Amino acid sequence: MKIIITPLDLKEYLKTNRKTIGFVPTMGALHEGHISLIKEARKNNELVVVSIFVNPTQFLEGEDLSTYPRKDDADKKICELSGVDILFFPHADDIYGKDEVSVLSPNVRGYILEGYSRPGHFNGVLTVVNKLLNIVNPTNAYFGKKDAQQLNLISLMVKQLFMNVNIIAMDTMRESDGLAMSSRNAYLSKEERIEALKISSSLQVAFGMVNRGLTDTKVIESKMRETLHTLEVFYVAIVNRDFEQIQTIEIGNTIVLVEVKVGTTRLLDNIWL
Ligand code: PAJ
Repeated sequence: MKIIITPLDLKEYLKTNRKTIGFVPTMGALHEGHISLIKEARKNNELVVVSIFVNPTQFLEGEDLSTYPRKDDADKKICELSGVDILFFPHADDIYGKDEVSVLSPNVRGYILEGYSRPGHFNGVLTVVNKLLNIVNPTNAYFGKKDAQQLNLISLMVKQLFMNVNIIAMDTMRESDGLAMSSRNAYLSKEERIEALKISSSLQVAFGMVNRGLTDTKVIESKMRETLHTLEVFYVAIVNRDFEQIQTIEIGNTIVLVEVKVGTTRLLDNIWL
């Protein structure tokens, strides 16, 4: 595995590349969720590039940028063992200058749900993903459905900016008790870890209701809120794949989303129906 620090070095390295590239952008503290993306990239591409970059522009004032978990040595080992060819590990000043061009997320889809509780967050995400895709120029780029709104906005950016990359959506990996894997789970105390299970339970409640033939999203949302009542809920929402609120479940075109705070940790999860 080759570790490359600067965008120019990576571009130079890839200049004469004729191979298919699978790219997995991450912020590190890698877990099985990230590894599932890397493995899929390994299966379907000749060259696999992973980036680890804790992107400062997607953290709002007062968020956890300075405490975001960093596990550089363990991450390098995981990448090596997962068959990564190139690990791109840039510093912030390799990626950002002083007076920046940036990508703005759309006014509606970028400012609802996660974008409502974290206004401007998605501008940072889109800006860095745009930069990373331009540096790596991959055939396929892999993103998790766990961050459904992020995935939707990245797909929208690629379409609307006429970018040449296939966005591949990957299922959410969970702990055996149902908790969605996340780098931020490392913040949870033992008690909070137990409280956090209410997130996946609430999604199971929704799943069960839909399985029994219930389709009224208001009824399902309010049952979910009962399951989550001891937590600070940012949102419970049921939307279609274009992130429009819907009144009735449409099988094959619905995402049920939850974002809560457990202690001081913001956690999100969803299921696709
Ligand atoms: P990060 O949170 O490190 O996640 C990197 C990728 O892994 C994202 O596509 C995310 O959706 C996916 N992922 C996270 N948890 C997962 C799980 N449990 N199962 C499957 N996939 C999972 O998301 C980011 O970084 C950043 O915003 C980034 C896109 C890298 C831009 O900075």
